[in-house]
Amino acid sequence: MKFFIDTANLDQIKEAQDLGILDGVTTNPSLMAKEGITGDQSIIDHYKKICEIVDGDVSAEVISTDFEGMVKEGEALAALNDQIVVKVPMIKEGIKAIKYFSDKGIKTNCTLVFSVGQAILAAKAGATYVSPFIGRLDDISTDGLNLIEEIRLVYDNYMFETEILAASVRHTMHIVDCAKLGADVMTGPLSSIEGLLKHPLTDIGLEKFLADHNKSKS
Ligand code: E4P
Repeated sequence: MKFFIDTANLDQIKEAQDLGILDGVTTNPSLMAKEGITGDQSIIDHYKKICEIVDGDVSAEVISTDFEGMVKEGEALAALNDQIVVKVPMIKEGIKAIKYFSDKGIKTNCTLVFSVGQAILAAKAGATYVSPFIGRLDDISTDGLNLIEEIRLVYDNYMFETEILAASVRHTMHIVDCAKLGADVMTGPLSSIEGLLKHPLTDIGLEKFLADHNKSKS
């Protein structure tokens, strides 16, 4: 399972990278705005900085909602670095754009996916990644994990190569459950990744080992 961090915060990206288990980064316009990154040039510069920190894929989202606009933006983003994955919304024009990028060998991430039908279309268009938003489904009392399970089943039925990128991950158990269901990738906040480290018996055990070691020295 690949681990992506879902943030535009450079300190958090560095921290996750330093752990040695990071495979990539996802951003979206809201995450960029949260870091105060506004204006075309600042956004471009920020993506370049992210690519310098991590080795893997970096999703950069287009703002246009028409085919021509998405193609223009996506080609400019993809030209920044081989690591860039063009993030395209799941709309009719977006599917056309994903097919266009796929034919040109440009990596894509189909975002804002909330149903199996949408995931089938993304795979048919040749998306590199499909991003079902599990947390946002949970928010409206709909089982986000069930969507991961269903997409896995359908993709396996047809051997679609599009990778299932569980997005809108909100907490550590989302990661564990997505791993059980066979999601190829998860993207979540640093806190959800660091939560995987935690177990009280680890802390108690380590404290005892260190105490016994120190006793044996005296
Ligand atoms: C990532 O690609 C998505 O944009 C992100 O995971 C959305 O997460 P949220 O629902 O917590 O905003």
